[in-house]
Amino acid sequence: MDRGIRTVEDVLTLMDGLFAPEADRWTDSAAAWWDGFYEDRSRPVPFFVDKPDESLVSCLDRGLVTGGRALDLGCGPGRNALRLAAAGFAVDAVDLSPVAIAWGEERATEAGAEVRFHLGNAFALAGTALRGPYDLIHDSGCFHHLPPHRRVSYLALLDRLLAPGGAFTLTCFAAGEGGMGSELPDAELYRGSRLHGGLAYTPGSLRRIFAGLTEVELRRMRDEPPGSPCFGESFLWTALFRRDAAGALRPGAGRA
Ligand SMILES: C[S@@+](CC[C@H](N)C(=O)[O-])C[C@H]1O[C@@H](n2cnc3c(N)ncnc32)[C@H](O)[C@@H]1O
Repeated sequence: MDRGIRTVEDVLTLMDGLFAPEADRWTDSAAAWWDGFYEDRSRPVPFFVDKPDESLVSCLDRGLVTGGRALDLGCGPGRNALRLAAAGFAVDAVDLSPVAIAWGEERATEAGAEVRFHLGNAFALAGTALRGPYDLIHDSGCFHHLPPHRRVSYLALLDRLLAPGGAFTLTCFAAGEGGMGSELPDAELYRGSRLHGGLAYTPGSLRRIFAGLTEVELRRMRDEPPGSPCFGESFLWTALFRRDAAGALRPGAGRA
């Protein structure tokens, strides 16, 4: 008989197990899946291009994010980490997949860019290998792979690592016309034990989840033509949130 639940983390771990293994794209055990995904670099995957998010470049160009320490969360082959390093940030970049990290390191060597790549689960590394405070945390395509209950852990990670006054930039699947990702309600995902390759979000859902931060900008990503120096797909949202200088991201909430 199992009566092991004592902490919030115990509950979250139990809920992880409600999803079929093929829905798992965000824990240590998903590394092999992502390795297979990145193995063939010639596949026409939009984000395999070595170009930064147009939204991130736009924030840099407008001075909405300036230098300091940056974390690229779920960095893949590092296209955004490299752009941040070029902009003068001291960059940490973390990903589950050894193949993605190796690809990112190759790109960094070729570009002569200094990026500290970390292999592993960002949630497990937060506070150890990944030490805040970061002036910028950028997530392009990682958040939307989390099961709903792990938003609790994600907010705890931001709470722990994002500097007071720091910026959080997010790129994730958009619900609605021309969007991408599953629009099934959270409860339905648990009933079906599947995440359907990623979750779509509405602006309202993002505003609710990140209510502890101040919204600076939330819009569809611009489609970028093939010749553009930037990556852009309009099936994604891009957002810039800022943490209050006072710091509290989840007032009244305990760490998870
Ligand atoms: C859709 S890909 C995006 C990659 C990259 N950000 C880009 O846009 O080119 C999502 C990435 O998140 C990584 N990932 C998912 N969960 C993670 C976690 N808990 N810790 C670290 N990386 C994670 C995956 O390994 C994968 O490379």
